[in-house]
Amino acid sequence: MTTYLVTGGAGFIGSNFVRHVLEHTDAEVTVLDLLTYAGSRASLEGLPPDRVTLVEGDICDPALVEALVARHPVVVHFAAESHNDNSLHDPSPFLQTNLIGTYTLLEAVRRHGARYHHISTDEVYGDLELDDPQRFTETTPYNPSSPYSSTKAGSDLLVRAWVRSFGVLATISNCSNNYGPFQHVEKFIPRQITNVVDGVRPKLYGAGRNVRDWIHADDHSAAVLRILERGRIGETYLVGADGEKNNQEVIEAILTLMGRPADAYDHVSDRAGHDLRYAIDSTKLRTELGWAPRYRDFAAGLEQTVAWYRDNEAWWRPQKAATEARYAAAGQ
Ligand code: NAD
Ligand code: DAU
Repeated sequence: MTTYLVTGGAGFIGSNFVRHVLEHTDAEVTVLDLLTYAGSRASLEGLPPDRVTLVEGDICDPALVEALVARHPVVVHFAAESHNDNSLHDPSPFLQTNLIGTYTLLEAVRRHGARYHHISTDEVYGDLELDDPQRFTETTPYNPSSPYSSTKAGSDLLVRAWVRSFGVLATISNCSNNYGPFQHVEKFIPRQITNVVDGVRPKLYGAGRNVRDWIHADDHSAAVLRILERGRIGETYLVGADGEKNNQEVIEAILTLMGRPADAYDHVSDRAGHDLRYAIDSTKLRTELGWAPRYRDFAAGLEQTVAWYRDNEAWWRPQKAATEARYAAAGQ
């Protein structure tokens, strides 16, 4: 039986992956998470204590990482500073966690010969024009735009170098925008849902024409498990569910689902350096590893997500005021 070490397992996608592993395997999971503003014990509440252990700690702490990797044959690395807007205000924790944290894990993985999977983002490829017929593939050149995406790109390159130079047993996945339950209210979709719950008008950056390629977090977790079980060492797999929507369409869909007029939102100042469009071609993952998304209908997935935030106010309420205060200070 495998024991997974899941970094960032108290965050949005990491905690989804932990639940996925419990449901689909007989493995045990150790979560290593610093419980920053983005991590929450509540996201792991109710999981069986004989199968899930939470270690509160920093992936940049070499002694702690060494001790944990020594007794875990598989490491799945989700932990990161993950929000673009925050990286524009203070890049420093992004450099520390995303680069030094990944380096610290890779060195321990190298010493112990552990299997390592690295979670990354489609943002490493930069952005596309709205009418570009091409989508990102595994061979698209790296061209990141923000402090966040440049540190994720750097962490990917570290992994590639550790595979080539030291024979580390690693795979990488680059996924598009996730949505679903347990996502922090700073992110686009939960921010707008919880604003509507609070009687506040949703906030659209700039003209709202920017396109994101949405995938349900459950489908991302299934892809990661599939890569761990069947992926080829040293390979990169792109993860996406053909979910391109522009931000205006998404806000209108949320308002309609929540019984408000579709135009009851405000335009606010745009994000600096705002990427225009992401789009993933996930043919390699689908054909080589037989993965396919379960959520093919974005409207249905969004409806489930809206219902979850309505039903789980106790989970998100503690973060909401501070998050909105940060946005207000930035004029957003
Ligand atoms: P999140 O911000 O919700 O969670 C990040 C988690 O990492 C939190 O629990 C936090 O406490 C933890 N963490 C942060 N710094 C740490 C440190 N130094 N040591 C230990 N733990 C630390 O992020 P998310 O949206 O769940 O993203 C998870 C991963 O997936 C990230 O690597 C991100 O780049 C990648 N990703 C995210 C998306 C998306 O749409 N959210 C898409 C593709 C890839
Ligand atoms: O593409 C994958 C990436 O998706 C991940 O690597 C990141 O970790 C994740 O945060 C996400 O990045 P984005 O910057 O695309 O996500 P965000 O939710 O911040 O914003 C989505 C879009 O919505 C983006 O075009 C900005 C816009 N936006 C965002 C907020 C918070 C708004 O229009 N209004 C808002 O209030």
